[in-house]
Amino acid sequence: MMKMSVMMKSCCVALFFILTSVSAVQRLNTFNELKKINFDQFVPSHSLLLLHWFANIVDIDNNNVIRLTFDPNRGDFGSHHYGNYEGMLDPLPRGNIRYQYYTVGNLNGEMSSQLPSYVVHPRFGYEGRNRDRIVFRVREQNAGRLTGQIIDRVYITQHYETSEHQGTRYDPVHTYLVTPQLLSQIREFSVEYSDRMSLMNLRDQFGSRASDSQIRDIRNSWGGLACLGLFLFIVIQEKYIPVQHNNRRQPKAKRNTHPDFIVNIPESRQNGTSGMFVSLLQVEMTLKVTTSTSGKARILWDNVPQYLLNEGVMVVLYNNVKYLTYKSIGNAESGSFNTSIPLNEGLQVRLHKVNKLCCFWTSIGEELGRGEKFTNPSAVSIKGYKASLQLFAKDGKACARLYVKKSFNDWRSKFKDSWVGFYNSEDEDTTDYKWWQWQWARKFNPSTDFQDYQVYEYCSGMTIAPGVQARFILKDYTEKACTPCWRE
Ligand SMILES: *[C@@H]1O[C@H](CO)[C@@H](O)[C@H](O)[C@H]1NC(C)=O
Ligand SMILES: *[C@@H]1O[C@H](CO)[C@@H](O)[C@H](O)[C@H]1NC(C)=O
Repeated sequence: MMKMSVMMKSCCVALFFILTSVSAVQRLNTFNELKKINFDQFVPSHSLLLLHWFANIVDIDNNNVIRLTFDPNRGDFGSHHYGNYEGMLDPLPRGNIRYQYYTVGNLNGEMSSQLPSYVVHPRFGYEGRNRDRIVFRVREQNAGRLTGQIIDRVYITQHYETSEHQGTRYDPVHTYLVTPQLLSQIREFSVEYSDRMSLMNLRDQFGSRASDSQIRDIRNSWGGLACLGLFLFIVIQEKYIPVQHNNRRQPKAKRNTHPDFIVNIPESRQNGTSGMFVSLLQVEMTLKVTTSTSGKARILWDNVPQYLLNEGVMVVLYNNVKYLTYKSIGNAESGSFNTSIPLNEGLQVRLHKVNKLCCFWTSIGEELGRGEKFTNPSAVSIKGYKASLQLFAKDGKACARLYVKKSFNDWRSKFKDSWVGFYNSEDEDTTDYKWWQWQWARKFNPSTDFQDYQVYEYCSGMTIAPGVQARFILKDYTEKACTPCWRE
């Protein structure tokens, strides 16, 4: 008998211990604590959309009492009873007043279409794969209608990933109690007030470092939801922007000095789905096609912001609308990728999100930004003649183009003994050419006219690579033009 009761006691202690230890979820009291969560990495950023909606749909009075404005027993917004059978949350208080947990946020539920469009059809970058939920506890003082009843607990939580094989449970490690104080702060970002002044005020009130032009971009890209856009900007993106002195003054210094380094985002995206990223990308990131030593396209990227790396991104090489190759860049904010694609004008690097398919298969997700198209260097004039010479890349080979002014109609006789040679570097002597590295000017092939020039082309058998140069030799070894050396 004695033994039995000891056993029972230790059993109860153990049970009690399990219940209390698992229900110790983290608490988010303030906006700053919310900002410390790594959204996108451990918690879907979509849960911020859900939380923003929830904070604004409930009533919160001056005493921080939260009240329901909808009825979860009726399934409003796809909400329904949550049993807390795993004991993840505190057990329901006992007594005369009935308490009940409810969950909301399933986007496939019957009445989930009542949720606002920004939650059900989140813009790019905020999709949540329907894992995140809000769980709230209601004090059911009167039987019947739940509308108007007090909510005494609010949590953000999420289902485990399918790959974690945890069934439909919620993940206690990524469950947070959200205090009424924090909900009230989030309510300040109500989308009803999305004018410029409100955004500026919110920025100052929440100590944001968003520049005036970032505020403008947020307004342009989020329109009537601009306050939500600012909320997301502050909570997710802003912490990855390095602190700069004079932050509001120095937006695009790089733009003029290195035009080929600037990420160019097509107009149509300015108001588009990922407009939030636009301002950041223009300041920070570079994507570029260069030439490897073997005449292949080499992709360089630099300053890819951490919040994009966290999402999983890839560099993709395009020729107009067609992609040729791609590579996930993992966590490398800068790096290079030697492709096996022969260099040609028009190749372009774009940054895309990685779409994870089943197992380890991936595919190209939505575009986040793009570099400039690769362009050949411009032509240099042939001294003393109305003609010029251009070095260009075609299928990874060094080629040359002659532009001959249409009025220069005796060029064939003037250039009778002229030839174009290709050299590995500017140090090579003009006499030091190989047989596949030169051609008579008069044997160049006619190409499409360009304005008032006739154009002739010749492709050598030589690989285009950094340092390569073309020279126009009038006669014997008299040089009349030298192109700049092919750039890295
Ligand atoms: C983008 O927004 C600007 C105004 O902010 C507007 O003039 C322009 O037409 C919009 N473009 C698209 C593609 O919606
Ligand atoms: C890629 O190409 C560059 C330039 O040609 C070369 O220096 C580098 O070694 C190459 N990297 C690899 C991994 O082949």
